Parts: sequence; C-alpha cells; structure tokens
Amino acid sequence: MQACTEPNQAADREDPCPLNLVLVGFMGCGKTTVGKHLAQTCRLQFVDLDEVIVQAAGGRSIPEIFAAEGEPGFRRRESEALRSLLGREGMVVATGGGIVSADENLPLLRSLGCVVWLDADMEDMWQRVCANRNRPMLHVENPRAEAERLWRERRPRYAGVAHLRIETEGLSADEVACGVSASAAHYFAASDRDRQRAPCAEGEQ
Ligand code: S3P
Repeated sequence: MQACTEPNQAADREDPCPLNLVLVGFMGCGKTTVGKHLAQTCRLQFVDLDEVIVQAAGGRSIPEIFAAEGEPGFRRRESEALRSLLGREGMVVATGGGIVSADENLPLLRSLGCVVWLDADMEDMWQRVCANRNRPMLHVENPRAEAERLWRERRPRYAGVAHLRIETEGLSADEVACGVSASAAHYFAASDRDRQRAPCAEGEQ
C-alpha cells in the first residue's frame, strides 16, 4: 500500500480542514465497502452520496434517474447532493466515480474534508463492475472499452483533487481502511498544527 502525499497535500493548508473523509475513485474501487469499515473503526457517520441523491429524488434509483433525466440531470443532482453536505463534520463520504467530471465539484470536495483517492488497477475494477448492471454509464455497446476510456479520462482528475492516494491492489477492505485512517490521521494532525500556528503568527505582527 502506498500513502501518497503528492501532489496536493499542502495546497490548502491555510484553511482548517473539516473533519471528514471523502473517498473518491473509479467505479468498483471499493469506496462503499472501505467507507463502511472506516466509519465503524473511526466512529464516524457513513454517508453514501449516491444514497443522498436517491433520497432527494424521492427514492428513484440511479438507473431510473439516468433514464428520466440523462447524465446531465444526474450530474446536477450529484453536485446538489455534494453541496448539501458542506458544513457538516464527522463523516466518511463515499462519492460516485463520476463526481470529478464536473469542474464545480472539485473545490467542493476539497472544502468538505480530506479527499482520499482509492486507486486500483483497471483490470481489478473491471472484474468488480462487469457483473453488475446497476451502472448506467456502462450501459453501452462495449462497456469494457467505455470503462477504460472513462478510467483514463478521470485518473488525472482524481489525482488533481485528492489530498491522499491509497493504492489498493491486493488488499482487503479492512487493510485499505487501516491505510486510509493512518494516512488521514497524519494529514489532520499536520492540518491541526498549522491551525494552531496561525494565531501565533498573527500575534507576532
Ligand atoms: C458513476 C458511478 C456510480 C454512480 C453513477 C455514475 C460514474 O457510483 O454514481 O452510476 O459516473 O462513474 P460508483 O462509483 O459507486 O459505482
């Protein structure tokens, strides 16, 4: 496992980071499973952003929303759901794999908390998603090719938004959750040190 501190860790240290863990990554990388483990071990509330969207849509499923409103309608709902969480703390938030598609979501994700990218091999993720028909983005003639296209397109966006990257290859959800909590603890401790330093710096003026 690799806890990665590049490329963005120090970028927003001026602002105290809210105490939330925000999981991003491609479909099938394990955000929901790992998120539930993390929430349990860290005693945080688990929030699945897709569930927030479904609730806000009166219980309509993600495939139903896509069928009625297309991808643009779903993305609008996804951004609204993300905004609805701002200001809350104490959560592990599992996002949908396409959350990074909209530019407006990127600063929202980073202001929500410590953004952790669960990175995995394309083949691993494909094995996890190919048997499941609940992902409308892959309801196309050649889902394998589409998954690979999206994976390539989104990787730089995950890299750009994440404070931390965890390589998950060959690890159980429990092991990944351990890696995330250890790396995030460092991240929050450093963020806290900066927070405590700030008034001294002001006092010296
Ligand atoms: C999507 C991923 C899904 C869900 C929706 C769109 C995507 O979430 O939000 O089907 O565009 O990658 P998971 O990443 O949890 O499968």
